[in-house]
Amino acid sequence: MKKNILFPAVVCMAVFLGSLQTVCAQQNSGTGGPAGAILNHYAARNFTAGAIPAADLELIIQAGIRAPSARNLQPWHFTVVQNQNLAKKMVSDNVDGNVLIVVSARGDGTTNGVQILDCALAVESIYLAAQALGYGSRIYTGPMSALNSSLKTELSLPSGHSAVALVRVGKVQGGVDAVSAASSRKKTEELVTYKK
Ligand SMILES: Cc1cc2nc3c(=O)[nH]c(=O)nc-3n(C[C@H](O)[C@H](O)[C@H](O)COP(=O)(O)O)c2cc1C
Repeated sequence: MKKNILFPAVVCMAVFLGSLQTVCAQQNSGTGGPAGAILNHYAARNFTAGAIPAADLELIIQAGIRAPSARNLQPWHFTVVQNQNLAKKMVSDNVDGNVLIVVSARGDGTTNGVQILDCALAVESIYLAAQALGYGSRIYTGPMSALNSSLKTELSLPSGHSAVALVRVGKVQGGVDAVSAASSRKKTEELVTYKK
């Protein structure tokens, strides 16, 4: 009789401890819990076809608009490219349904440091918002020089603006582990100095 009571209790305890261990491991490796929410992002490589619903796209763009900027000047403009022909002129392997969000600001896109920092924050906000909604995203600056020399008119960039970067947002296959999909990073000891 005693054995019958003890056995389920031991099983329950083992299951509980197992789950706890999994949650802790996930938090430490950045795949679950608050640590997961902070560390689970990577630059998508394998986009799949499929449209992004307008409400999600709007939320992603709002994340860019909501970014902080020096003196709250909000120097940016967001050009949302859904036309595939135009998108492929900037990202040749663009997949149907991927949206390219071009972030531009007044000037040549390279010399105003604070403005570029502001745009970079909007870019990062868009990048992270897309992944928080379950999409893949990737930041590009490679196409900027060709874009600024030959696509400004076709993109209808605001007068005097140059593109600083674009964020590609699109569907990706589910089940990708963001931590192992990301490239390795330099060691924390190389990068961080604590002054206590
Ligand atoms: C400012 C910036 C510019 C980038 N430009 C390009 C680009 O032109 N083409 C590209 O394929 N990836 C580009 N990337 C993506 C990076 O290669 C990627 O974020 C980096 O390798 C880290 O990837 P991971 O987070 O998946 O590890 C860019 C990223 C940043 C932040």
